[in-house]
Amino acid sequence: MRLDKLLSNLGFSSRSLCREMIKKGRVQVDGIVCRDMAMHVPDGAKVTLDGKEIDTRVERYLMMYKPSGYLTAAEDKSQQTVMDLLPKVYHSLGCMPVGRLDKDTTGLLLFTTDGDLAHRLIAPRHHVDKVYLARVDEPLTEEDEQAFREGIKLQDFTAMPAKLERLEETLGRVTVQEGKYHQVKRMFSARGKRVLELHRASFGEMQLDKGMRPGDFRELKEKEIAALYQAAGKAHE
Ligand code: URA
Repeated sequence: MRLDKLLSNLGFSSRSLCREMIKKGRVQVDGIVCRDMAMHVPDGAKVTLDGKEIDTRVERYLMMYKPSGYLTAAEDKSQQTVMDLLPKVYHSLGCMPVGRLDKDTTGLLLFTTDGDLAHRLIAPRHHVDKVYLARVDEPLTEEDEQAFREGIKLQDFTAMPAKLERLEETLGRVTVQEGKYHQVKRMFSARGKRVLELHRASFGEMQLDKGMRPGDFRELKEKEIAALYQAAGKAHE
């Protein structure tokens, strides 16, 4: 990527101000002052601004403990979104949520700059399991488990077979591979139950870190990123 584009994508400033910084000799690439704003920066090059090393990775992958009360959306005119919980650099790089959790749902939400990966991870044909803990308003029954196993008929589609495990009288663990709008809530609603609390515990092999609090996020490790690409059936350069 061109040096000026890279710096502005990384959120340092507008493209024109980044050009100024480059012209002034404030930027070095692999230890050499670079005044050529169009210079192609090779992967893995060490770039510094005013002597401080810059993290130049443009592909990013995050996990967040989504708190209740935030929309899963890139932006919204009147309500807070999960993007508001991320520093500017992730906005500049085009990091977006993978799929959607309802405003009142908590738990594991992934973000990536790779839109194709995100798309694949939420497509049911890739069979990526999403596990939710659901607190409902009525006792769960064996018939509920059976209905989830068979696939529940909803107004506009029949949900694919899913797994419901009763953990407590009104607490269930649900494993689904689809992610349609209000999917889990609608499946319970079809069984005459209202979901009072919904929390996503895992996405594929990924689980929320034990120590994470609502609103926390972190970058994924290389091993975790590789597992996501594998789950999505996509090569990772
Ligand atoms: N199913 C729902 O109903 N809501 C969510 O947020 C996620 C899955």
